[in-house]
Amino acid sequence: MTHAIGITDISAATTSLFFSLTSLAEAQGTSPGKYLRGIGQHEMSVPGDDEDIVTLAARAAAPIVERHGTKEIRTLVLATETGIDQSKAAGIYVHELLGLEHNARVVELKEACYSATAALQFALGIVARNPDEKVLVIASDIARYELDSSGEATQGAGALAMLVSADPAIMAIEPASGLFTENVHDFWRPNDRTTALVDGRFSVTVYLRAVTEAYDDYVRGGGAEFSSIARMCFHQPFTKMAAKAMQTLAKHAGAQSVASAVSSLEETMIHNRRLGNTYTASVYMGLLSLLENAELGAGERIGIFSYGSGAVAEFFAGTLVEGYREHVRPGALTAQLDARREIAYEEYRERHIRADRTGDYETRAEGKGPFRLAGVRESIRVYEKA
Ligand code: CAA
Repeated sequence: MTHAIGITDISAATTSLFFSLTSLAEAQGTSPGKYLRGIGQHEMSVPGDDEDIVTLAARAAAPIVERHGTKEIRTLVLATETGIDQSKAAGIYVHELLGLEHNARVVELKEACYSATAALQFALGIVARNPDEKVLVIASDIARYELDSSGEATQGAGALAMLVSADPAIMAIEPASGLFTENVHDFWRPNDRTTALVDGRFSVTVYLRAVTEAYDDYVRGGGAEFSSIARMCFHQPFTKMAAKAMQTLAKHAGAQSVASAVSSLEETMIHNRRLGNTYTASVYMGLLSLLENAELGAGERIGIFSYGSGAVAEFFAGTLVEGYREHVRPGALTAQLDARREIAYEEYRERHIRADRTGDYETRAEGKGPFRLAGVRESIRVYEKA
């Protein structure tokens, strides 16, 4: 028997602090319009002292585990650019914090902002072989660029968890997938660095080339007509990037109105404008924002374009399931965004520098989520329930 397979639950989390891009512009003597309209970003989430990709990932996934239990989750895949260990998968800490079963596999995936999509594809494959199992996919990142660099305005933080199963309650993923890989240095982070290196303008060019290349591969592989895709979600390093991507794609695909294609993205940008770049989670934050804020019907097709610098891109689509909105917890992420404490420029800079600390340390209790990083003791990260 063939089952539809896809996303049966989705939940997101962010940090306890934020920094406003108006404050950044004022401190730099730049016009706030460059950030608010030029790149389409209003705020960036900033981690508290005891928050990291593990606490964010566990906070995002906890409501899913509470709703579905642990018995059927035999795989946890954590996608991140912000790895905390060169060897051990960050997901193992998340596995413990969530109380998942010992009879489960846990692994971490990396390819800049793309790897959550690889995780989703792997999950679909596992469920296709074992339709009774569910796979927990978590994307968790803290996007950091050097102070005073061009990328600084596009920092952010957040995590998004998806439960993948047969007969999904939210979105069935279709088999067609368009792929594109090219060895380029548009954004990368060598092992000795805590902030990304980036060739900003070049990264935008490669992203836009990847959109048409991956789309063409999608069409060649039997993907749906562009006109049958009701809405698109693009990776959003900053929300304006999605608009640029849609403009390029709509022209390339011969859309009737490029302007209306671009304006149809609005509901995908609501969370991202406030989160900043969440790297691996970003495109799925766009999906969550769309699911919460748009009036869409069962069977409508959502296109997804995932991009990771370096570069790997994928274009695929899914169809919405009847009653999907009852499963998306509308307002849950907005409540977390609203509860963040705003920090001023000096505090933002102090925290940015402090985040580079190494060795053993204890953290201050600042996070608002259910889990915290207590500290690093004898090179071991110690997490606890808040
Ligand atoms: N009012 C309105 N708009 C204004 C303005 C004002 N006062 N001042 C400037 N602008 C506009 C500019 O015209 C420009 O718009 P267009 O791109 O439409 O021409 C926009 O604001 C940005 O201005 P600049 O191009 O001058 O900005 P910049 O060069 O300082 O920085 C950036 C832009 C290079 C993308 C930089 O944000 C960056 O390096 N970001 C990090 C890399 C990145 O996000 N790349 C995206 C693709 S790679 C990817 O997606 C992977 C990933 O997650 C990193």
